Amino acid sequence: MTERTFSIIKPDATERNLTGAVNAVIEAAGLRIVAQRRIHLSKAQAEKFYEIHKERPFFGELVDFMTRSPVVVQVLEGDNAVARYREVMGATNPANADEGTIRKLFAPSVGENTVHGSDSAENAAMEIVQFFTDDQIVG
Ligand code: CMP
Repeated sequence: MTERTFSIIKPDATERNLTGAVNAVIEAAGLRIVAQRRIHLSKAQAEKFYEIHKERPFFGELVDFMTRSPVVVQVLEGDNAVARYREVMGATNPANADEGTIRKLFAPSVGENTVHGSDSAENAAMEIVQFFTDDQIVG
């Protein structure tokens, strides 16, 4: 089933000029980048995006990190894109990530873990509309 997921290439990756390297792994996995834009998240945007984590002890650190440098927001399309991208990213903590995954290859730590990917199709739809209009997504 063709579906879409939402991805963020995080500040730890843009700071190290890894946007293209991350995209190469995404494309090699068969996911198509159907929209992408480099932006600098405001504090309000980051707080809204991660609202679900606002009671977590790492929330402040997470918002500081995500607003530290530009990010690249993306829409990825493909067969079972939500689950497929989660496989390609690897475990949240890079110490537990499988060989060949984006986090195993590039992530310095659980907090600075290089990429975000939606955890369900419902959340993907909600995350995509925070950053893209329909006409900006070209499948
Ligand atoms: P992400 O998939 O973007 O969604 C929530 C983020 O919280 C997660 O990736 C991590 O970057 C971050 N996170 C999760 N656990 C921790 C932790 N223990 N310490 C700091 N950040 C964390």
